[in-house]
Amino acid sequence: MGHRRRSRTTRARGQEDRKIGEATPELPASGIGLGHTRWATHGGVTTHNAHPHLDCSGRLALVHNGIVSNYRELREPLVRSGHRFLSETDTEVVVHLIEECLAQTPAGAEQLVTATMTAFRRLEGLNAIAVLDVHSGQLTAAKSGSPLVLGWSDHGRMLASDYSALLEHTRRVTFVEDRQAVLLAGETCRVFDADTGRELTPRITEVEWEAAATELSGYPDYMTKEIHEQPAVLRRLAAGWGGHARQLAAMLADAPDVFVIGCGSAWHAALAAQYLLARIAGRRVTVVSASEFPYLRDFVTEGAVVVALSQSGETIDVIEAARAARDRGARIAAMVNVEGSTLWRLADLTVPLGAGPERCVLATKSFTAKLAIWLMTAHALIGRAEAGATLVRDAADEIERLLAGGPRDAIRQIAEALYRHEHLFVIGRGPGYPLALEAALKVKEVSYIHAEGFAGGDLKHGVIALIAPGSPCLVLAPRDETYDDIMSGAMQVKARGGMLIGMSPEPHEAFDYHIPVADLGPAAAIVNAPPAQILGYYLALLRGHDPDKPRNLAKSVTVK
Ligand code: AGP
Repeated sequence: MGHRRRSRTTRARGQEDRKIGEATPELPASGIGLGHTRWATHGGVTTHNAHPHLDCSGRLALVHNGIVSNYRELREPLVRSGHRFLSETDTEVVVHLIEECLAQTPAGAEQLVTATMTAFRRLEGLNAIAVLDVHSGQLTAAKSGSPLVLGWSDHGRMLASDYSALLEHTRRVTFVEDRQAVLLAGETCRVFDADTGRELTPRITEVEWEAAATELSGYPDYMTKEIHEQPAVLRRLAAGWGGHARQLAAMLADAPDVFVIGCGSAWHAALAAQYLLARIAGRRVTVVSASEFPYLRDFVTEGAVVVALSQSGETIDVIEAARAARDRGARIAAMVNVEGSTLWRLADLTVPLGAGPERCVLATKSFTAKLAIWLMTAHALIGRAEAGATLVRDAADEIERLLAGGPRDAIRQIAEALYRHEHLFVIGRGPGYPLALEAALKVKEVSYIHAEGFAGGDLKHGVIALIAPGSPCLVLAPRDETYDDIMSGAMQVKARGGMLIGMSPEPHEAFDYHIPVADLGPAAAIVNAPPAQILGYYLALLRGHDPDKPRNLAKSVTVK
């Protein structure tokens, strides 16, 4: 929830219809504003469904992050009492509900926030809302589940779902807790308990990130910037942050059971952790995709440790899984990048990723940072933390080499050979398997090529039926115990006319293209990620897509 009036208000005044994505017309100067990029859950991506939504009088404008799960039940009586709905969204119900409550709330300085809290108490689901009253010039907000941050700057108060949006204005923020409401009126800013209406004293935190860290700093886009920040992030982790890996190792050491959860790239990092902990520390952990956790949670027992991985710390599936595990008596460790996020505040032990702001939707530096911490944690479990840190430093050096002109241009040439294909297979064995999943995800997310990652051994159990002459297959072949078997799988693809792109320390006659990566033993998982990120990046550019804002995706997924 930004600070700019946008779309519907414009339409209400001018009634013209603007196409989605069309530049926002210049808005009149104003001291207060509201804006939001909607994630479509109910109703298509249309102007009518865009936020903010207005009440019947046009006095109230509302934006919303979340899903009002009982919106149908709330909507019917409003329609019967004459409210006119213009969209298919669940969101619009809320502004009409507040309009209704406002009419029943005595006038006064707290009329809007009281009406907002009354309406908010009737919503079911995970939601955050912000409401602008154009008559009083007041702005209120309330949250339960979806993130909401209040920013305190010398030139005003502001609200956002993620504080990195506020950094250019302030580093002093209040993380609004569940079931709280906020009132911004002129110079005053007040926080309330949304269930009782009782006023609360806001807690202000000074966050670490600087606004400069959110700038492009000369890079063409955030994906390139964040890929190039990986060596520095890894060196920082190896240098000082080993401490957190040791704390995590201590928590895991005496845990009767350990579960590692996450979504998307974070789930891939969890899978990679399973191999690193097994191979280095002989430790078994159970990995679960957080969105599937609710259906497995009964195997979590008292005293178990659940390690939740999340860059944003706001992925609702991860937060809910961590809460469900805690309810079953588990201790929660969280590996998070965004300081102060919901998961960061929820955990018993927080292990910062220390990757700095990650603006590109694709997880890049946050992914390799997670692998680095797991590599050090596995070594700390066997009392060799320094050895883990040394491997992380070696990985940083290798990634720096890969990001230099030569290797990067070689990957670009491979992208030029691939970008017309609509399918790409990625195979890996052992720790190479989660990396194959991650490589495929990077390519999918940013180039829209249907890339699929497989455990190399699964090929002959069905997948190989998809291989046709010319089918491209990226083979992750580190020089370790998986090498011979993954190459035998690659040869079977080759035998059926497949085109092989080998990511391996050495060339092989079967490779049509070769991406040389250093032989770094257990750190191979870390150095195999950046070449796949770069390949995805160039495929996106060659197919004319924006690498930072891929279609249909959000940086933090706060709806289920
Ligand atoms: C990765 O590139 C994607 N953006 C996505 O899969 C992401 O990893 C997932 O949504 C989890 O996000 P989180 O780490 O912020 O929880």
